[in-house]
Amino acid sequence: MTKAAVSPSATHRAYRLVPTDSGSRLNQVEDVAPVPGPGDVLVRVEAASLNYRDLLVLRGQLGAVREGLIPLSDGAGRVVATGKNVTCWREGDRVAPIFYRNWVAGPYREAYGPAALGGGETDGVLADTIAVPEASLVRIPDGWSFEEAATLPCAALTAWHALVVRGRLAAGDTLLVQGTGGVALFGLQIASALGARTLVLSSSDEKRERATKLGAFATVNYRTTPDWDVEVRRLTGGFGVSHILELGGPDTFDRSLSALAAGGHIAQIGVFTGFGPRSNLIRLQQINGTIDGINVGSAEQFAAMNTFLAAHQIKPVIDKSFAFDEAEAAYDELASGRHFGKLVIRL
Ligand SMILES: NC(=O)c1ccc[n+]([C@@H]2O[C@H](COP(=O)([O-])OP(=O)(O)OC[C@H]3O[C@@H](n4cnc5c(N)ncnc54)[C@H](OP(=O)(O)O)[C@@H]3O)[C@@H](O)[C@H]2O)c1
Repeated sequence: MTKAAVSPSATHRAYRLVPTDSGSRLNQVEDVAPVPGPGDVLVRVEAASLNYRDLLVLRGQLGAVREGLIPLSDGAGRVVATGKNVTCWREGDRVAPIFYRNWVAGPYREAYGPAALGGGETDGVLADTIAVPEASLVRIPDGWSFEEAATLPCAALTAWHALVVRGRLAAGDTLLVQGTGGVALFGLQIASALGARTLVLSSSDEKRERATKLGAFATVNYRTTPDWDVEVRRLTGGFGVSHILELGGPDTFDRSLSALAAGGHIAQIGVFTGFGPRSNLIRLQQINGTIDGINVGSAEQFAAMNTFLAAHQIKPVIDKSFAFDEAEAAYDELASGRHFGKLVIRL
């Protein structure tokens, strides 16, 4: 271990999940700080960010979580100590942990699932310090604050994986995103940088205006226009869109299929309206469409995305930032759906 910093009896602040009748609640604790084992790196977490998945974890909708689990998958911070045999990192490096701790490169394997940070059995990042294997860290872009970098591991990487790695989105394409949360706005920003045009669905006219300022070529209010697929076709000259980030699930999927242009690509990502979709795929066949299932991304994809974001000077849209003691308020804000972009917790 480097000379640095952490004695075995040092304490740190963390939140841990305590079971309730309706899932779990947050409990702030003072714990013994982790000590990095061989091959591990100790990171002082400077900021964390919330994803819709963190609500699902809290509500028990992704299955049981270990009592005392540290929540949240997304964070960024500084290396403060390294265990024996660590070769890639040194004290002071600015890093973010990856969502699936073992998915370094190559295709996804089901064995990676249980090692997703902040769910099931695997502790997440809502703590002053975390110890993680050295291969599960990615360098964050120069010039980015820790709050900005903390938005990348899940939301940004999911949009990148869906659009660039699997969708091969190109200049001239059209993209539809559902809502104005983290994945949707990263999708809009990445697509704009690649010369594609994005259409944004939102339940709020005020958020639609903000999405237009951020680069959307058209917006539709999915509350006041429930048959938004018809409107999307009209706004694209009758063709439909060539790419869709499908975030809604069962209640949105059929409309997405209807709004998809011939030869188009749907990235199946989200579960806002439940776990599904259960769909009649005949239209997909008729229009030679493609569906890809997307599950976050690897460290290799994360590093490539960071290079792209830095080169195109894309910065995340952060709606609000909360102090560590306000973690519950941050979860409440996420549950309200009022946010535009990302919610962040400063440590
Ligand atoms: N498969 C994966 O790897 C992966 C990774 C990340 C996220 N996800 C999933 O993707 C979805 C987005 O996650 P996120 O963290 O970006 O969410 P988020 O930031 O919490 O997004 C919330 C926003 O989504 C919009 N929304 C909610 N219900 C909607 C609906 N029925 N139709 C259209 N828009 C709706 C609302 O926008 P308006 O207020 O503008 O209406 C809401 O404010 C979630 O279902 C999440 O579980 C999956």
